[in-house]
Amino acid sequence: MKKHVVLYKSLSPALRERLGEHAEITEITQLGGDGLARLRDALPHAHGLLGASLRLDAALLDLAPRLEAVASVSVGVDNYDLAYLDRRAILLSNTPDVLTETTADTGFALILGTARRVVELASMVRAGEWTRNVGPAQFGSDVHGKTLGIIGMGRIGEALAQRGHFGFGMPVIYHSRNPKPAVDARFNARHASLEQLLAEADFVCMTLPLTAATERMIGAREFALMKPSAIFVNIARGKVVDEAALIAALQSGQLHAAGLDVFEKEPLAADSPLLRLDNVVATPHIGSATVETREAMARCAVDNLIEALAGRRPANLVNPQAWAARGR
Ligand code: DGY
Repeated sequence: MKKHVVLYKSLSPALRERLGEHAEITEITQLGGDGLARLRDALPHAHGLLGASLRLDAALLDLAPRLEAVASVSVGVDNYDLAYLDRRAILLSNTPDVLTETTADTGFALILGTARRVVELASMVRAGEWTRNVGPAQFGSDVHGKTLGIIGMGRIGEALAQRGHFGFGMPVIYHSRNPKPAVDARFNARHASLEQLLAEADFVCMTLPLTAATERMIGAREFALMKPSAIFVNIARGKVVDEAALIAALQSGQLHAAGLDVFEKEPLAADSPLLRLDNVVATPHIGSATVETREAMARCAVDNLIEALAGRRPANLVNPQAWAARGR
């Protein structure tokens, strides 16, 4: 008999068909409205779950006594309680690699968009306010040749370094737990303490995962260490920053500008002070949101889930402890 999978993210017809060859599917396309209630109703039958952007806490997962595997359509796994999953030997998989380049592209879009004031000045043109040549009041700042500071040197950090070094001739400094000699050699990059990076970088880019250790790692103290001309870019998670401190630094001019794809609370409230600041470019968590990449992520998640439900180790297993607990 086929196992039962609950989708809380819609799949393309081809992927749905592929998953359907291996599992019975209950699909909940929208978690708004009565979606969450429908998810709760479906959980008691679920052997597998596939989706993203939902905090799967113990209260929800306790409703799923048969659950064997969760396939997240994301690289970040901060929505999951790993200790809980390990305890119940539920396999969690994610979708690394396939989104690396696209997410780094988003990072660079924010670097360029903030430095060259693209959104602000394009809005001026659209509003019919381009009445004479722009002057110093509208000038942006250069990106090429400026120092790129990357906090977190995982796959996405490396892809950002690649763009900065090869594409824009930027000196690259990075802060991560350990130096990475291969990164140093490839991008002529330098490992630095957090304080050194904050003091030297023209662009401070967050690319690390949200964990207990990284939560709010950038706050008032860290903004005070940055150059007043620095631009802060966050493509990681909103909670790696103290958002109130970020707003204060932007409002006071202590920080020149910010390009933000992620926020403490998403969707960002329409009355957020961030949206009243011209020196902020805010995007709606679109790091990996291209047609090609989202399909590749969904395919990766489907493959992970099929493998896990067949009793095989999925390629992108996040919690090997759960695998071990299954006696594999
Ligand atoms: C990821 O894959 O983690 C993206 O940020 C989407 O949540």
